[in-house]
Amino acid sequence: VDVDAFDEVMAALDPAVAVLTVAVDGERSGCLVGFHSQSSIEPRCHSVWISKANHTYDLALVADFVAVHALTRADHDLAELFGSLTGDEVDKFSRCEWAASAYGPPLLARCPNRLLLRRRAVLDYGGDHVGFVTDLVDAESGGPFEPLRLSHVGDLEPGHHAGG
Ligand SMILES: Cc1cc2nc3c(=O)[nH]c(=O)nc-3n(C[C@H](O)[C@H](O)[C@H](O)COP(=O)(O)O)c2cc1C
Repeated sequence: VDVDAFDEVMAALDPAVAVLTVAVDGERSGCLVGFHSQSSIEPRCHSVWISKANHTYDLALVADFVAVHALTRADHDLAELFGSLTGDEVDKFSRCEWAASAYGPPLLARCPNRLLLRRRAVLDYGGDHVGFVTDLVDAESGGPFEPLRLSHVGDLEPGHHAGG
């Protein structure tokens, strides 16, 4: 398999990155995700793939709800906080503004474009990431914005490396 060609195609697609947050029994977690996409129109579903290596994974497995926050070009620092640090070592939520939501996941104050999602299915097909298929519970839009994309965060080193 030509993985370099695969990587080239994926890089050219340049997906928008987002921050997924979750909370269980007062413990909070969140990570940067590039693997996420709408996955149904009716009903509205969104799927997110989380690395088994992440602190966020353990909480996402047991939480009913997660929040996905779209990032803008002004949010590189948030991408760094959630993508380059791990909840195994730091409390990311002591380093950013957030508010608790009625459903549980912390909501990032800086990110008005966000989805509140309920877990519908978990897909573990043996890879290093696990798919979380979710139903839309609520969405908020702050108006038009320029998304932060993978190509804008190429300088970031992931807090956890997936896939060995
Ligand atoms: C550009 C970029 C994209 C990433 N995409 C994903 C992703 O789609 N899924 C995932 O689980 N981790 C992804 N990560 C890795 C996590 O965000 C990172 O390892 C984070 O530090 C994990 O935090 P945690 O251990 O507190 O959950 C990405 C990291 C970067 C820098």
